[in-house]
Amino acid sequence: MPLETESKARVRALISEFRPENGDLLATLHKVQHEFGYLSREAMEVIGEQLDLFPAHVYGAASFYEEFRFEPPAHTNIRWCSGPACRLRNSNGIRDAMLATLGLDEIHEQTEDGRVGVINGQCNGCCELAPMVWLEQHETHTVRPVGNLTAASAIRMARALRDGTEIEGALDAAFERTPSGSGVSNG
Ligand code: FES
Repeated sequence: MPLETESKARVRALISEFRPENGDLLATLHKVQHEFGYLSREAMEVIGEQLDLFPAHVYGAASFYEEFRFEPPAHTNIRWCSGPACRLRNSNGIRDAMLATLGLDEIHEQTEDGRVGVINGQCNGCCELAPMVWLEQHETHTVRPVGNLTAASAIRMARALRDGTEIEGALDAAFERTPSGSGVSNG
């Protein structure tokens, strides 16, 4: 079976409970993105077939919301908090240091090998950790808040992720602690 057809079949099975007459487009989009990490063109075609909508309608609705992605996520995404408390504590400097370390020009890019991406995040009330980021891995459904960053610790963290270290190892590198977890603490 060709890959695209197999991929479409997976989406079709995933959203088979939704029907045009009671189909909730947003719920369908969320379910597909949660499973695959993004909304592919094929997935939006299947959603359109299932809910009796044109794919352009599906894309138009999804693109209205910032939370939906149309490209595969990086292996690890650094979700950078753009909120006011973090900005007061030099989050812009941290963002620029991470982007430079990863060789990226701006937010929402990822390294060429797909290992690390930097995406925009909003304050979710963890301001005591400012400035902070979340490290996210779609594959393992991991979300790890990381707080009290400095430009230096952010650079060490980004460098470790770029070089293939997984999240906990990258945090050990960032906060210069031993792999056992002792040493400087973060969020
Ligand atoms: S402003 Fe960054 S967590 Fe609140």
